[in-house]
Amino acid sequence: MSRRRVAAANWKMNKSFAEAELFVERLLEDIDPDKTEGVHIVLTPPYIHLQNLVEMLTLNEGIAVAAQNCHHEAQGAYTGEVSASMLKSIDVDAVLVGHSERRQYFGENDMIVSKKIHRALENDLMPVYCCGETLEQRESGAHLGTVTHQIEAALTGLSAQQMQQLVIAYEPVWAIGTGKTATVEQAGEMHQHIRSVLERLFGKESAESTSILYGGSVKASNAAELFAHPHIDGGLVGGASLDPEEFLAIVYALGHKRF
Ligand code: 13P
Repeated sequence: MSRRRVAAANWKMNKSFAEAELFVERLLEDIDPDKTEGVHIVLTPPYIHLQNLVEMLTLNEGIAVAAQNCHHEAQGAYTGEVSASMLKSIDVDAVLVGHSERRQYFGENDMIVSKKIHRALENDLMPVYCCGETLEQRESGAHLGTVTHQIEAALTGLSAQQMQQLVIAYEPVWAIGTGKTATVEQAGEMHQHIRSVLERLFGKESAESTSILYGGSVKASNAAELFAHPHIDGGLVGGASLDPEEFLAIVYALGHKRF
């Protein structure tokens, strides 16, 4: 079964307006469409650059724009927050949900993450649901159980149809921003495990068609090896996505992958 291949850039809290614009200009100038066939490229800038990126990319159907977060309520007195419907109103395509930095620094728990997924789906945004274990959990052998629990808490109750709209990103916390990438064996084992949990929750067809991305110190130098694994359908890239050349090299590595 063929799955969406996704190369997503998560800029986190980086780039001025001018830097964001320059990135997109260089990306569009340099991109080689032959090497990106079938790859869904997603750019995830800070909120304030979203509308500008949507406008700059309006003619490029293969490049989507995602937000890094949305609020879990539909609207109301939540100073400083942005709702899923507001994102949709400026034609944003997708939203990251449950990133470990949101869980760690902003106290997001499984219940909030689950509500955000529903808000995103209600507004026809593609949720990129992030999960992953800490170093302590991996070292104590609790990594598979931790991720099982995260997936069950966030996704139970969704329909198979809603699952078609959703992408999962496995991001081991110990690999994020550390330069310490999971090995292909470690990532592959977890991706297969996630797929088995999805099969139990939603059935084989849904599990086989859900894209599972790997995130955590993905770079141009290790992308091809990771993407060669049959269960790794793409990457969610932080630091290495800030440079258009480096990010394009990662996109091309995914472009080489054929199912
Ligand atoms: P790095 O690629 O910088 O490790 O970040 C990964 C990440 O958190 C993407 O969401």
